[in-house]
Formats: sequence, C-alpha cells, structure tokens
Amino acid sequence: MQDLKKAPIGIFDSGIGGLTVAKAVIDALPHENIIYFGDTARVPYGIKSEETVRAYALEITRFLLNKGVKMILIACNTVSASAKEEIIQAAGDIPVLDVITAGTRSAVQMPDHQNIGVIGTLGTVNSRAYVESIHAFDTTIKVNQQACPLLVPLAEEGWIDNDVAIQTLHHYLDHFDDSGIQTLILGCTHYPLFKETIPSVLKNKDVKIIDSAESIAASAKQKLTEMDLLNSEGGNFQCYVSDRPQRFHELAERFLGRELTTAVEVVSLDK
Ligand code: DGL
Repeated sequence: MQDLKKAPIGIFDSGIGGLTVAKAVIDALPHENIIYFGDTARVPYGIKSEETVRAYALEITRFLLNKGVKMILIACNTVSASAKEEIIQAAGDIPVLDVITAGTRSAVQMPDHQNIGVIGTLGTVNSRAYVESIHAFDTTIKVNQQACPLLVPLAEEGWIDNDVAIQTLHHYLDHFDDSGIQTLILGCTHYPLFKETIPSVLKNKDVKIIDSAESIAASAKQKLTEMDLLNSEGGNFQCYVSDRPQRFHELAERFLGRELTTAVEVVSLDK
C-alpha cells in the first residue's frame, strides 16, 4: 500500500491545455507525484473524429499505465467526451476521473443550476457529452451549448484579455445574454485562462463560472482519500510530450501559473 501511495497520478491532454488541470491538482494535492502527457504532435483533438481521438487516448492510457500510475485524470474535455468508457475499461482497477463528470458535478451543485451554459471545442459540443452528463442528474435542466474553436489558439498566444479576445468572446457568448443561463461551464482545458475576462463580456455578471480543472482536482482528492492512497511525501512533476518540447516548455508557465522547472521529455507512443 505504501508503494501505491507513492505512485504518480497520470494526467493527460491533447497538448498543453491540460496543464490547467495539473495546476489545480498541484494546488490541491502538493505532495503527490504527477506524470503529465501532452500529445503535442497530434493536437488539436477538438476538430478530429471520435474514432481518431479514441485511438490516441488509448495509446496514452497504455503509456501512463506502463509508468505505474495509481490514478488517471482525463484532463481533455474532447477525450472525456469520446473515449471515457474505453479508458476506464483499459485501466482496470486504476481509477479514472474525467473533466466532464467533475465539471458537471460542480455545476449541478450550484444553488442556481436550472439553466446551464457550456462552452467547448466542436468535438465536445457535437458529442453532447455535457448535455447527457447534466441530464443524468436532472433531465429538467436546460443546457445551452456553444463551440468556441478560436479560443484555443488565442489562449496559446496569450491573447486572453486584449481587444481580439474580447471581440471573439462577444461573438461566442453574446447569445447567452438572452438565454438566462445561471451557470457557465468552461468545457475546454484552455478556457480557464479566460476566467477573468468572461464575466466582463457577459451581460449577467452573476453567472457562476465553473472551472472543470478545479472540479477534477477536488474529485481526485476525494477519491484518493476514500481509497487511502494520499501521498504525504512526494511532489515530483514530470512532463512528457509527443513533439516540440521546447514550445511546450515556453508556453507551460501561462497554463501552469508558475515556471516549469523540470525537463520535458519527448516520447513516441507507437514504439
Ligand atoms: N484539450 C482540448 C479540450 O479540452 C482542447 C484542445 C484540442 O482541441 O485538442 O477539449
């Protein structure tokens, strides 16, 4: 049991955006060892078919299992939308948590949750995974979705509050003004970067913003506590990518909220 406590938590995403989840996990569980995988050779997933995303996600799952992880966090909303069940099956006894389930749980726990907005990639929105996940709690909840594909490249450029970002947010979010949403789920790894800007764009300033990164970190803490698998001695953070480690390193701070001090290793999953 002691060894399993020291085993790392595996977190993965299509690229760099999942570092928003890693940040939330490090904040909530500073003594855990973490292995992060970003599929930088094949990002973005949000515009790819479900079959392709599923195949990529299973390769990454096998990589993390080979690293001996004690838990897997699917940090990518697009993967959560299309491959969650397959990953759970592949992981066997290792618990798997995903951002969609975690974000949904936080949203439906809000006092005002009868009308929920969801923003995400085209893949996530088209899959209707958030709609199904929310309706599994309560079928009477109104869910209003909007795909915001341009927000991913804007976040990577660091354009999170300039004129272009604000105009783009207006383009995507203005229709929510007449929809009466009380809660808005940030259903994409990159969107927490716009957390401060979004309320300035929405007409209703009381809309509650749900950051799935914080939600999944809280769920991971709860699950590890229940399983008596909390580590009190770790704190290593290792990053693997499938391409361009230098760019990952350069962009990491923006998503992680701190400098990435360890080296980023490149791995090829098909070997
Ligand atoms: N990580 C993806 C998500 O959360 C966004 C980037 C992509 O399209 O791969 O949906």
